[in-house]
Amino acid sequence: MSRIDALLGAMTLTEKLGQLTMTAAGSAVTGPFIAGDSTDAIRAGSIGNLLNLMGAEPVRELQRIAVEESRLGIPLLIALDVIHGYRTLFPVPLAETALFDPEVWERTAREAAREASAEGIAMTFAPMLDVARDPRWGRGVEGFGEDPWVGGCLARAKVRGYQGSDLSAADALAAVAKHYGAYGAVTAGREYAAVDVSERALREVHLPPFEAAVTAGVSSVMPAFTDLAGIPMTAHAGLLREWLRGRLGFDGVIVSDYNAIGELIAHGVASDRAQAAALALRAGVDIDMMADAYRYGLPEALQRGLVSAALIDEAVRRVLRLKERLGLFEDPYRRGTSPESSTAMAERRRFARAVGARAIVMLKNAGDALPLADSLRRLLVVGPLADAAAEMRGPWHAAASADGCVSVLAGLRAALPQMRIEHALGVDIDVEDTSAIATALRRCRQSDAVVLCLGEASLMSGEAASRASLDLPGRQRTLTESICKHARSCGKPVIAVLFSGRPLAVPWLIEQADAVLAAWFLGAEAGHAIADVITGKVSPSGRTPVSWPRAVGQVPIFFGQRPSGRPADPANRYSSRYLDVANDPLFAFGHGLSYGRFKLSSLRVTPESLGADETLAIQVDVLNEGRRAAQETVFLFTHRPLASVTRPLLELKGFAKIELRPGESATVTLQLPATELRYLGPDLQPVLEAGAVEILVGPCADRAQLLQKTVQVRASGASRLPPPS
Ligand code: BGC
Repeated sequence: MSRIDALLGAMTLTEKLGQLTMTAAGSAVTGPFIAGDSTDAIRAGSIGNLLNLMGAEPVRELQRIAVEESRLGIPLLIALDVIHGYRTLFPVPLAETALFDPEVWERTAREAAREASAEGIAMTFAPMLDVARDPRWGRGVEGFGEDPWVGGCLARAKVRGYQGSDLSAADALAAVAKHYGAYGAVTAGREYAAVDVSERALREVHLPPFEAAVTAGVSSVMPAFTDLAGIPMTAHAGLLREWLRGRLGFDGVIVSDYNAIGELIAHGVASDRAQAAALALRAGVDIDMMADAYRYGLPEALQRGLVSAALIDEAVRRVLRLKERLGLFEDPYRRGTSPESSTAMAERRRFARAVGARAIVMLKNAGDALPLADSLRRLLVVGPLADAAAEMRGPWHAAASADGCVSVLAGLRAALPQMRIEHALGVDIDVEDTSAIATALRRCRQSDAVVLCLGEASLMSGEAASRASLDLPGRQRTLTESICKHARSCGKPVIAVLFSGRPLAVPWLIEQADAVLAAWFLGAEAGHAIADVITGKVSPSGRTPVSWPRAVGQVPIFFGQRPSGRPADPANRYSSRYLDVANDPLFAFGHGLSYGRFKLSSLRVTPESLGADETLAIQVDVLNEGRRAAQETVFLFTHRPLASVTRPLLELKGFAKIELRPGESATVTLQLPATELRYLGPDLQPVLEAGAVEILVGPCADRAQLLQKTVQVRASGASRLPPPS
């Protein structure tokens, strides 16, 4: 008999429900106590999984209680939001996406897994795979931006990175693909609000990153808090049990979001805890995080006949199997026993600095204001985010301490010891007091250049951080305008460093500053990374993974929109456009400048006519015409001008990066299998239709900058392909 069968045979109902329960732990410093001390519950086997417990010692102690003092000795599963690092923070996920480098995406996850597992963590609630096209929603910072194809690449890289090649290894974490699905489409960008997307949007836009995660072997999936067209995801049997488990073959654990089972009552689909628990269990949710609805509601649900004992056993079996795959039965202390070496930690910080510098997106650089000229003697570093080490962490920071992060001021001082660097606050992030602007201006008069550090506080994005305005909060515009007015009058360069968890609609800032760097939240080494770019040690190479709006009224904004029957035409009032703002974004998806200057030419696509099982080879020549070595990112898009359903104006199908010295040129090659050209036909079945396909290659999603060729897909007898897996 297998270990799991034996355990299931021996377990009481309480012990079974314990395995389906996940509870938050209290302070790591106060000792091994969980919110209201549940050590007795662990001993009794009625809590089998923990979250939010940090520190090797408390983790070990609670694990010891579970293993040595509970009747069956089943080890705890200990989980945490390790989103972009554990103690050493990397750039927030949106920033890291700007690298368009799957190897880096994988390695940051690997490093985070090493660090967290060294303190006993076995599961991370990451990656977040929600497509985010509405920057009012704060959680875009936790994901990859607007494009599902990017989401698929990131999903694979993150699952590999967190889980490694062997989930039972001491440095592997179980990954959780969250929040399934379409959470990013909350009404009006308002957190936790209702979601209503079409089945086409769901299947073509929102689900593909999750499908990629499942194919990559993700251990766990977390349903979103939200409903989808009337059915809360936590109770969505169609999408959990039928689609995820049935169609995609996912056999891992489904863990609810925080108290989400309890919230089925507020959603208005369950009248009490027993019914809520029954709905979630029947839909396929295995672990109840924080609602205690399984522990206290399922016994009654059983009595009322709302669930069967077999359904409970099925969920318990999946949880035990995950614990087994994690190697917890073999050695519950495998994770958390060997502290990391100081060399490994130092190396990780160096990597965080390199990734940070590469995540910066240079939005503007007029008159080559950057890198800063060596001739400058005095620099003013001003603004509410200039000396704000703690803010550099972003909204999720696991065990990272505030003083472990480098501010812009500290980074620039370290990088430019010969320069006199003054600092001024100017204004706070979101208060109305402008009295400190005078001091900032006085210091500005005495300086040769200004680095203006503006933006959002880190908690203005992330969970529960929707904003109706996409402008800079507080009086930062007043500060900027005063500084820029003075600087313009005497020709001093103003470099704006913009911190945010979303693209901010600040055309006025882009207009007034000489150079603008989107610095997101870059983590532990933020200040050094920013200094590396400002001083020219590193050429910026980040590319925005979201279309950058001009005005909040443009959102949701994304390059993959479908065509209108009346495309925008300034000469035609009755066309699809705004009266007061352009349709296009301020910066297209993929925009980002470097210290090089690239020219793309000679797009070649072979063959010109493509069968269903063939692959296109796409080549383009890239030349660095600039005076400095730099990296270019090349994007591959397609468009179907004629199909049985309207197709997006651009669909991303690939990207590649290349580093070139001044004057150097090289050829970039991308592959595009015909299967990538499938889409859902009128009946929502995948089809590969015969006809023309435009192949568009270039530096961003601005059509004017793309090279184009057209190929033909040949009719392949039956044009219909079987659905994926
Ligand atoms: C968030 C999840 C997170 C969980 C546990 C929830 O509020 O929505 O993303 O994993 O808390 O911290």
